[in-house]
Amino acid sequence: MKTQLKSITESILFGGEDYGIIHNDLHALHNIYSSLTGIGAYDVNNGGDIFTDKGKAISPVKAAHCLLEVMRTSKFLRGINTALQRLIKKNPGKRILILYAGCGPYATLITPLTTIFSPAEIGICLLDINETSLAAVQQLYNALKLNDYVTEYIHADATLYKTETAPDMIISETMLNALAKEPQVAIMMNLVPQLSEKGVFIPESITVTASLLSPALEQESFLVAGMIPERIHLAELYTIGQYQYDTCKPTIVQIPAQPGTFNILSLMTDITVYGEEKLTAYNCSLTIPITQLNALEHAGKKITYRYEISNIPGFRYDFSET
Ligand SMILES: C[S@@+](CC[C@H](N)C(=O)[O-])C[C@H]1O[C@@H](n2cnc3c(N)ncnc32)[C@H](O)[C@@H]1O
Repeated sequence: MKTQLKSITESILFGGEDYGIIHNDLHALHNIYSSLTGIGAYDVNNGGDIFTDKGKAISPVKAAHCLLEVMRTSKFLRGINTALQRLIKKNPGKRILILYAGCGPYATLITPLTTIFSPAEIGICLLDINETSLAAVQQLYNALKLNDYVTEYIHADATLYKTETAPDMIISETMLNALAKEPQVAIMMNLVPQLSEKGVFIPESITVTASLLSPALEQESFLVAGMIPERIHLAELYTIGQYQYDTCKPTIVQIPAQPGTFNILSLMTDITVYGEEKLTAYNCSLTIPITQLNALEHAGKKITYRYEISNIPGFRYDFSET
């Protein structure tokens, strides 16, 4: 099984951009993981979301399903592989400590990389708030005999967790588009300051902007390969990343007096996983634009956006006095 895991991993990392091939690779991984954990992405038991005062932690089945998002999973794995290669090169002889906050039942974003790096090169702390997910990942690592990599399995809330040793890398993908509903921001605010001095947070940064979209151009871009539709950038609302993790300040967005065909105000999400590995509009569920309002109906108005960290985190807006 380890040989199969290695060849699938190499295909995802180095096999090019063919969507169909990566799709099949991820389904092959899913067959392995689901058979060893008893948790599958298509299981009907969809209960088990955990609701916290900083957002929702999705259930083991939903977390398992994230594996199958082709561009998300492949870009994260490629970015993490590159980041680890660099960290190892910069720190010869050191075991790179990785904290994976929100690992889910498969530790999707690190398990394949155990076929690339040795337990002497990387040590992994697997953390999740969901006990079922944590038990599943433990079962998976026992079955695949990967326990030499694991420094600890931790059942904890990553928005509060304090590390004893500063990790060289922290991985956390606990988000939806426009940073809504899930606790990514609260997790980053807690964990980024705990990185070691030259450590790497994955994803490196997430930016949400307000833009005007033309429905006709967006539609056309789905049909024309490589087309990036023209959009009107109104304002950057927030960037959170390893170099910038302040709370979000309110931003005033001015809707033009005549938006013309660019009549849909949307929130756009761009993710830099690491270096050149980026996810942009429509690449995956995390970067699908979120429609806010019809700009023609609100032409000339000003809107104030605020990001709220609460049990349902996300951007809220209200119309500003002009
Ligand atoms: C979107 S899933 C991602 C699963 C997997 N890491 C992946 O990328 O495919 C998010 C995971 O983070 C966990 N999680 C969410 N909020 C958390 C929190 N506050 N503390 C610890 N884990 C959390 C969930 O239980 C879930 O397993």
